[in-house]
Amino acid sequence: MAKKSCESVHFFLFFFVISFNAISVSAQTCDNTTGTFEPDNPYDKNRRLILSTLATNVTALTGYYFNGSIGIAPDEVYTIGMCAPASEDHVCSLCIKTTSESLLQNCPNQADAFSWSGEETLCLVRYSNRPISGLLNMTPRGAIYNTGELNTNQTEFDIVWTNLTSSMITGITSSSSSSGANNSSKYYSDGLAPVPDFKNISAMMQCTPDVSTEDCRTCLRTNVDDYGHCCRKYQGGVISRPNCFFRWETYSFDGATDQINLPKSPPPSITTSPVANITKNGKIAESVQFDLKTIESATSNFSEHNKLGKGGFGEVYKGMLMNGTEIAVKRLSKTSGQGEVEFKNEVVVVAKLQHINLVRLLGFSLQGEEKLLVYEFVPNKSLDYFLFDPMMRTQLDWTMRRNIIGGITRGILYLHQDSRLKIIHRDLKASNILLDADMNPKISDFGMARIFGMDQTVANTARVVGTFGYMSPEYVTHGQFSMKSDVYSFGVLILEIISGKKNSSFYQMDGLVNNLVTYVWRLWENKSLHDLIDPSIIEDCKHDEVVRYIHIGLLCVQENPTERPTMSTIHQMLTTSSIALPVPLPPGFFFRNEQGLNPLGQRLEPGQSTSKSFACSVDEATITEVNPR
Ligand SMILES: *[C@@H]1O[C@H](CO)[C@@H](O)[C@H](O)[C@H]1NC(C)=O
Ligand SMILES: *[C@@H]1O[C@H](CO)[C@@H](O)[C@H](O)[C@H]1NC(C)=O
Ligand SMILES: *[C@@H]1O[C@H](CO)[C@@H](O)[C@H](O)[C@H]1NC(C)=O
Ligand SMILES: *[C@@H]1O[C@H](CO)[C@@H](O)[C@H](O)[C@H]1NC(C)=O
Ligand SMILES: *[C@@H]1O[C@H](CO)[C@@H](O)[C@H](O)[C@H]1NC(C)=O
Ligand SMILES: *[C@@H]1O[C@H](CO)[C@@H](O)[C@H](O)[C@H]1NC(C)=O
Ligand SMILES: *[C@@H]1O[C@H](CO)[C@@H](O)[C@H](O)[C@H]1NC(C)=O
Ligand SMILES: *[C@@H]1O[C@H](CO)[C@@H](O)[C@H](O)[C@H]1NC(C)=O
Ligand SMILES: *[C@@H]1O[C@H](CO)[C@@H](O)[C@H](O)[C@H]1NC(C)=O
Ligand SMILES: *[C@@H]1O[C@H](CO)[C@@H](O)[C@H](O)[C@H]1NC(C)=O
Ligand SMILES: *[C@@H]1O[C@H](CO)[C@@H](O)[C@H](O)[C@H]1NC(C)=O
Ligand SMILES: *[C@@H]1O[C@H](CO)[C@@H](O)[C@H](O)[C@H]1NC(C)=O
Repeated sequence: MAKKSCESVHFFLFFFVISFNAISVSAQTCDNTTGTFEPDNPYDKNRRLILSTLATNVTALTGYYFNGSIGIAPDEVYTIGMCAPASEDHVCSLCIKTTSESLLQNCPNQADAFSWSGEETLCLVRYSNRPISGLLNMTPRGAIYNTGELNTNQTEFDIVWTNLTSSMITGITSSSSSSGANNSSKYYSDGLAPVPDFKNISAMMQCTPDVSTEDCRTCLRTNVDDYGHCCRKYQGGVISRPNCFFRWETYSFDGATDQINLPKSPPPSITTSPVANITKNGKIAESVQFDLKTIESATSNFSEHNKLGKGGFGEVYKGMLMNGTEIAVKRLSKTSGQGEVEFKNEVVVVAKLQHINLVRLLGFSLQGEEKLLVYEFVPNKSLDYFLFDPMMRTQLDWTMRRNIIGGITRGILYLHQDSRLKIIHRDLKASNILLDADMNPKISDFGMARIFGMDQTVANTARVVGTFGYMSPEYVTHGQFSMKSDVYSFGVLILEIISGKKNSSFYQMDGLVNNLVTYVWRLWENKSLHDLIDPSIIEDCKHDEVVRYIHIGLLCVQENPTERPTMSTIHQMLTTSSIALPVPLPPGFFFRNEQGLNPLGQRLEPGQSTSKSFACSVDEATITEVNPR
């Protein structure tokens, strides 16, 4: 028994670390102090050109840091691109692309701009009309804070916060780092510290590797002090400068997962499945068990070349069995909360779930430390790959998107209702929707909670797993999950599929629109839902139909779970246009702009509409606030 709870703790930490991998941030600043330009002039053309190749140039370097320039003065453009260490190539690439695209959009004529942003990783994109490499710039500064107040003993909180942030700065700048001036891990740190009787503090800091250790320290200290001066009583925030970045939250976000001062935590409750039992069902288990050697030879011993990417639970490899069948192999992290028997039981159970819109689990392999899940291979990557890339997006017309929404609906309906297990997915998101050769959607990673030995019947969990932006308010704040939390994630997916935009960012310098859900609600209030529609489908779609889909999406993201329809109702609403739709209330995670005073910066008033003047203000300190609720 003692042994078991020890394993469980292991599992717990592992799970915590890998699941909380996507919480977006976007701290963008346009600067006109070094000059402005006329759109489409040679400088602008160089700027577009250099940003268009930046993602490739950054990922080509293993240190994930690139500097360079193109053109001839006065039209020469200098750039820096960087991803946080240990990003996946495609994640880094997507981050740089998305960030570049939004800089081009938001900084129409400023000769200098930078943005630290990202969802699954943090990346920096900066361009300028003067040399920037190796030089420390302290302005302009971006500052964002979360308006939620701490409501805990400030003295005790401050002790931990100050200790954590200063030890991180010391850590970054004292280790005579072996990383070179072109390696993004040179000045990077993330950390976690528990505040007694309160939440954990998670923090992340990074400098560009081209500046000196002294400059990095100065820059980070200033960021931390700036935050301390303005926003001590709030629940989190970001201070960014061209060469350094600081963020902290009361929840874990990507990167901030290295553990400092890990407290002992209670083991999660682990239940065994009543449905299958390996000793009773020996035959079934055999039929889905693969020999490790078979998998090794199918994947060329898990060669880098065969790697498809990294999912929430481990790395995924492509393989081919001797008989020519293509497979995808998920190599689970070595720690899991379960013993062998339970693990096998759960795989057998989940493998029985079969539906055209679910990725088929063919079997597993279990030998020593190695735990593998073998899936059918799905050729056309995942939905996010198409949806969030400006070029790829154009390949998805409305008919395809409608088909994708329909397929996802049926897949979830099956999990919730038609399979006897009543599986709650808990991590529905665009990157978990795979696309087959005919662009039919297939949901992946379902049943992982079972396979990992987490009780699905308990409706309240101390650890929230899932992906921020897709998680329902009651799940994020109270750890309560239910089929209705899947419905919320599904609603976000519908809105993303129609708009081609991510529901990202708690943080955007844009004071009016802080996430997609908020944006949609504002459009609803203005009776202009059609403005949401992705320009690349606007031509070929039936507007009434798309607006109905958006309306249904809005019903799914209602703040109160009981106001959200069930999957079977959603299915009816989507397929039967004569069914009248209820009027939605404001959604969960709707950002309101509140009145109030801030000692440092400018706050946006409700109704203030031009975000540009705000995002592009220069010397003046700018502070954005975000309301999580
Ligand atoms: C890029 O960085 C290297 C090394 O710091 C430096 O020598 C070079 O001048 C930089 N290139 C540009 C265009 O700034
Ligand atoms: C980035 O790489 C491309 C080739 O992919 C190259 O043509 C371009 O000059 C590079 N950009 C810079 C600024 O060096
Ligand atoms: C906060 O904590 C400090 C140190 O533990 C203690 O001295 C102080 O009384 C506490 N303040 C309140 C309001 O509880
Ligand atoms: C401060 O941080 C250090 C190292 O992270 C730790 O050893 C020490 O116990 C912390 N002190 C307090 C008061 O939290
Ligand atoms: C970057 O630095 C890290 C940590 O020092 C090191 O492991 C890695 O090999 C370096 N990469 C390159 C390309 O120098
Ligand atoms: C940059 O990285 C390359 C390897 O990717 C290495 O050979 C080179 O020495 C590094 N340059 C600097 C200035 O650190
Ligand atoms: C703090 O983080 C640790 C490690 O991830 C976790 O076990 C613990 O439950 C967290 N505490 C709170 C109050 O969230
Ligand atoms: C499986 O069934 C056997 C025989 O009924 C029983 O002894 C065993 O405890 C069960 N194992 C599990 C993991 O439920
Ligand atoms: C895989 O590795 C094993 C040793 O670990 C070796 O015997 C075998 O030949 C390798 N197979 C392939 C396909 O590389
Ligand atoms: C190939 O082998 C796998 C696993 O044994 C089996 O599921 C599949 O049906 C086979 N495919 C063909 C074409 O025989
Ligand atoms: C999807 O995959 C099929 C088969 O691999 C391929 O022919 C097709 O072009 C792909 N579609 C897209 C949009 O990439
Ligand atoms: C820079 O932007 C500010 C604020 O938008 C504006 O007041 C100022 O005139 C601009 N300066 C130049 C040189 O365009």
